[in-house]
Amino acid sequence: MSDQSDQPLLRSLLAYLRMEQTSFHVPGHKGGLAAPLSLQEALGAGSFRLDLTEVGMLDSLQHPVAEMRDAMILASLAFGADHTWFLVNGSTAGVHAMLLAVLTENEEVLISRDCHLSAIGGMILCGSHPQYLFPTWDSDWHLFLPAQASSIADAFRLRPSVAAVFLTSPSYFGIASDLGAVGQISSGKDLPIMVDEAHGAHFAFHPAFPKTAMASRIDLSVQSAHKTLTSLTQSALLHWKRGRVEEEKVRAALDILQTSSPSYLLAASLDASRWQMANEGTKLWQSTIELAEEAREQVNRINGLRCLNPNDLRDRGYTLDPTKLLVDVWRLGMDGFRAARILQAFGVDVELADPWHVLAVFSVADTPDSLKRLLLALKKLPEFLPPSRSRFDGSRLPSPPKPSSFFTPRQAFFSPCDRVRLSESRGRIVARSLAPYPPGIPTLVPGEMIDADTIEYLRLWQQLGARILGLEGEELWIKVVH
Ligand SMILES: Cc1ncc(COP(=O)(O)O)c(C=O)c1O
Repeated sequence: MSDQSDQPLLRSLLAYLRMEQTSFHVPGHKGGLAAPLSLQEALGAGSFRLDLTEVGMLDSLQHPVAEMRDAMILASLAFGADHTWFLVNGSTAGVHAMLLAVLTENEEVLISRDCHLSAIGGMILCGSHPQYLFPTWDSDWHLFLPAQASSIADAFRLRPSVAAVFLTSPSYFGIASDLGAVGQISSGKDLPIMVDEAHGAHFAFHPAFPKTAMASRIDLSVQSAHKTLTSLTQSALLHWKRGRVEEEKVRAALDILQTSSPSYLLAASLDASRWQMANEGTKLWQSTIELAEEAREQVNRINGLRCLNPNDLRDRGYTLDPTKLLVDVWRLGMDGFRAARILQAFGVDVELADPWHVLAVFSVADTPDSLKRLLLALKKLPEFLPPSRSRFDGSRLPSPPKPSSFFTPRQAFFSPCDRVRLSESRGRIVARSLAPYPPGIPTLVPGEMIDADTIEYLRLWQQLGARILGLEGEELWIKVVH
C-alpha cells in the first residue's frame, strides 16, 4: 500500500457512481436530483453526485477497512506519520481530539499561550489544567514568536508535574519553531507532545519549508489541508507517531467528536490533494516559493512597506515559511485593517489584517498574474494615507496583555455567568474567550482576569476595526463568572 499514484477513495467513489445505483439512502438530494435549482446551478451536477456518506458499499471514516483505510495509509506515508486520520471538521476537531486523547481532568498541560481558540475548546472538553507558556512578543515586528525548546525545558524545571505539551507551530504568519530540538528535549521526559500545525500542511513537500512535526519526534500533529494545500474547506489531517500516545485513544476521541455522516466529498478531496502533493508537490511549491520571493523583493522596494524575510528570524532559531508574505504597513501611517480595505477595493483579498500588517498567503494556485495584481494594489496604498494628524502610529499600541489565570477553562466555562459591559468588567473573570479573529489567538481565555490594560487593549483593537469574538453588540457585552 505505498503506490502514491493511486487515489483509492476517489477511484472507489467514481466506480460506485458508474454503477448508477438507485438510491434509497441519505443524503435526501439523492445525487442532486432534488437539490434546489439555484444550488445545482451554482455547484454543478458533479459535486452533488460525489456528495455521499457512509452508506451501502462505501467504506467508513470511523472504522475504515477498505478504500478509506487505503487512502489514509497513503496519506500517512506521504506526510511521514505512522497513522493519519482524515478530518471533516477542520483542524479544530483534530486539536480537540489530541487534547481529549492525551489528557484527563486536572492533569497539567504546558501550552503556549499563542494557541488558537480550538485549543481552549479542547481544554474545556478534557478539563485539563493549563500551565501557560507566554511566547516572546517581538516589538519590532509586532508578533508572537512561537515557543522554542529552551523555554519549554525551563518550564519543565519549574513545573515537573506537567503531563503533556501543546505547541502551535508554525504561527499564522508562518514562523516555525525548531521542532527537531523540541522533540529531543521531550524524549528525555517521555511526555506526549502535540503540535497544532494547522498552517503547515505543505511542509512535507519541499525542502525549503520548515521541518514537520512528524519528522521531529512529535507524537501528534494536526494540519489544515484546506488552508495551504488544495483540498476542500473543512478537510484536515491528524497525524500520529507510535510511542507515547495510544492510537486507540485518539480513535476513540475522534469517534466522539466527528460526525457520523462524514462528507466523502471532503474526504475524497484529501485523497486527491495528497496524490497531487506526493506526485507533483515539490515542483509546484518550487514555483510558488519563487513567486513569493519575487513578491518579497518587490514589496520591500515600495516606500513605507517592508516584508518579513527568512533572514530576519534565522539567528533566533526560527524558520519562516516562504509562502507567507507578511507586509508591515503601519510605518506608512495606516493600520492593517485600513490597508486591507484599500486592497479589497483594488480587487485583492488578503488572508488577515491586524493593526500593523496584512498577510498574503501564496499557494500552488498562484501565478505571475496574481502576483502582479497583488503588487499593483500594494503600490496604491501610499496614495490613500489619512491626513497627517490622524495617521496611525503602531509603535504606540500596547503589546498583548499577560492575564492571570484563576480557574481552568472548563471550570470557568461551566460556572454560573453574568453578562457585563467590557467597560465595567475590571476585576472580573471571563467565562468565554475573547479573541480577535483572525488569527483567533485569545486575548483572554476562560478563567483569566480582566484588568484595565486588557480592557484598553481590546477597545483599541475594536476601534481600529478588528472583529473580536466574545464581544457582543454595540455596548460590547461579555460573559464573566458570577
Ligand atoms: C493555529 C490554528 N489552529 C487551528 C485552527 C483551526 O483550523 P480549522 O479552521 O481547520 O478548523 C486555526 C484556524 O485558523 C489556526 O489558525
